[in-house]
Amino acid sequence: MAYNLLKGKRGIIFGALDANSIAWKTAERVHEEGGTFVLTNAPIAMRMGQIKALAEKTGSEIIPADATSEEDLANLVAKSTEILGGKLDFVLHSIGMSVNVRKGRSYMDENYDFTAKGWDVSALSFHKVMQSLYKADAMAEWGSIVALTYIAAQRSFPDYNDMADNKAYLESVARSFGYFFGKNKMVRVNTISQSPTATTAGQGIKGFNGFINYADKMSPLGNATADDCADYTVTLFSDLTKKVTMQNLFHDGGFSNTGVSQEVIEEFSK
Ligand code: NAI
Repeated sequence: MAYNLLKGKRGIIFGALDANSIAWKTAERVHEEGGTFVLTNAPIAMRMGQIKALAEKTGSEIIPADATSEEDLANLVAKSTEILGGKLDFVLHSIGMSVNVRKGRSYMDENYDFTAKGWDVSALSFHKVMQSLYKADAMAEWGSIVALTYIAAQRSFPDYNDMADNKAYLESVARSFGYFFGKNKMVRVNTISQSPTATTAGQGIKGFNGFINYADKMSPLGNATADDCADYTVTLFSDLTKKVTMQNLFHDGGFSNTGVSQEVIEEFSK
């Protein structure tokens, strides 16, 4: 159901790779709620991806940008405000990639060039995105910036590898930049800590099926899906959450506050 929550609002959505992507589902929901936006992704991902279909469906333009490149980001921000006809009300950072994970390197055997690249893409890019927006004065007052994260930032999940460290950094950037964006521009910055979700990035994690099933059994409401995440993000982009900022918001069916569930106890009582 649509409520027109984002009527007249403009933004940028990073990270829609395919129809499973959290950013893809979010773009569809934002469109349903009346928001207009520019879609962006790394130039290399766009050659493989199906982003054009999403652009057509949502009446959006696509501007390629590598989120680690300040030059690409400056160009993206300038062109987006021009195309959309004004300052931005919302930005979604939905970007993550660990080179160590991709190359099968364990946490005890990191290649630090891989670590640095993964950190740049997954964590520092959030600072770069916000600094580009801030310097261009591109955000409208009461705008909302959201990035996606995972609970491995707070608790140990062995196979999440160096992405755990990247997410801890990302969440810290949200707090730190959130202060300045709030104080100086009246813009809010939050991270959503999402349940494991079957996407390209998610399935890159070793033992993902066990991981997602365990989380589902541990969560009183079950795992939050990508569609649920899109709904939650819409609320954070809307005017109904104006004073929520500098928060890491768990969107996980209750997983983060559950010690153990009956289902898991039964599994171990067999
Ligand atoms: P996805 O693989 O569909 O999206 C990741 C996106 O990052 C892709 O579109 C990819 O092209 C983009 N990307 C990679 N390098 C880039 C670069 N240099 N510049 C710009 N974009 C780049 O996977 P998903 O799951 O939708 O990931 C979105 C976010 O959600 C990520 O931050 C991920 O860590 C986070 N998340 C995912 C969970 C899951 O289980 N899938 C759980 C919690 C958080």
